[in-house]
Amino acid sequence: MILEIKGLSAGVEGNEVIKDIDLTVKSGEIHVLMGPNGSGKTTLANVLFGNPKYKVLGGDVLVDGKSILGMKTNERAKLGLFMQFQNPVEIEGLGFIHFMRTAKETISGSRINFKEFMDDIKSYMKELDMNDEFINRPVNVGFSGGERKKLEALQMLVLKPSIAVLDEPDSGLDIDALKRVASAVSNAAKSSNIGLLIITHYSRILSYIKPDYVHVMIGGSIAKSGGIELVEKLEKEGYEQFTGKQ
Ligand SMILES: Nc1ncnc2c1ncn2[C@@H]1O[C@H](COP(=O)(O)OP(=O)(O)OP(=O)(O)O)[C@@H](O)[C@H]1O
Ligand SMILES: [Mg+2]
Repeated sequence: MILEIKGLSAGVEGNEVIKDIDLTVKSGEIHVLMGPNGSGKTTLANVLFGNPKYKVLGGDVLVDGKSILGMKTNERAKLGLFMQFQNPVEIEGLGFIHFMRTAKETISGSRINFKEFMDDIKSYMKELDMNDEFINRPVNVGFSGGERKKLEALQMLVLKPSIAVLDEPDSGLDIDALKRVASAVSNAAKSSNIGLLIITHYSRILSYIKPDYVHVMIGGSIAKSGGIELVEKLEKEGYEQFTGKQ
């Protein structure tokens, strides 16, 4: 799959937040998007998934050459796109297994073998070091910040999308949890040829997931793209080189 973002501008509440973004992500590629707080990273993710709060002001988003901007979020998911939220919400009354099974069956368009499905979930939970009781609870209800991030990662592992946008999959995770989540995501990306766009503030996750491309977003635009050396430069010099702020 190829996800092409072409000259995309979008806003929220009457303000233009992202401006003229060009970015292409292919299945199997790993992209990292970094940038100061409020620079528009989460807005970009929301626009890619059709959150109705965000208005597209120009440009296009294509999957395998076809515009997806007219599609609803569930239709985008059926194409093989997946988004992990920066701030996953609690959903009272929705059991995780029911949620996951419905998502898996709807996206694949066929009934699943429940035993295989549960075995799959349990093996990923082991990989993520998650207690079995989590999946018997409603989605995210009463979960700690790190537990929510693990549950988001678990969803991606089970759904095996073609391209996934992960919005700060590392925030709030302790040192061991970060290693587990990042390694599981990296293994899945390799074995299922998943394309990743990982939004992060920290280079630590990149010890476990090696990016092919790194992009820096400043004030709603991609100010620079490069390889892993860009992260090293940012760690040393911060964003001042792009923002002009001292
Ligand atoms: N629903 C909204 N209503 C009003 N303003 C919004 C909304 N969503 C985003 N914005 C504004 O758009 C700008 C970009 O926000 P966004 O969440 O995309 O930043 P970010 O790069 O993800 O930041 P962070 O690194 O802190 O997560 C911010 O100034 C934010 O306040
Ligand atoms: Mg954000």
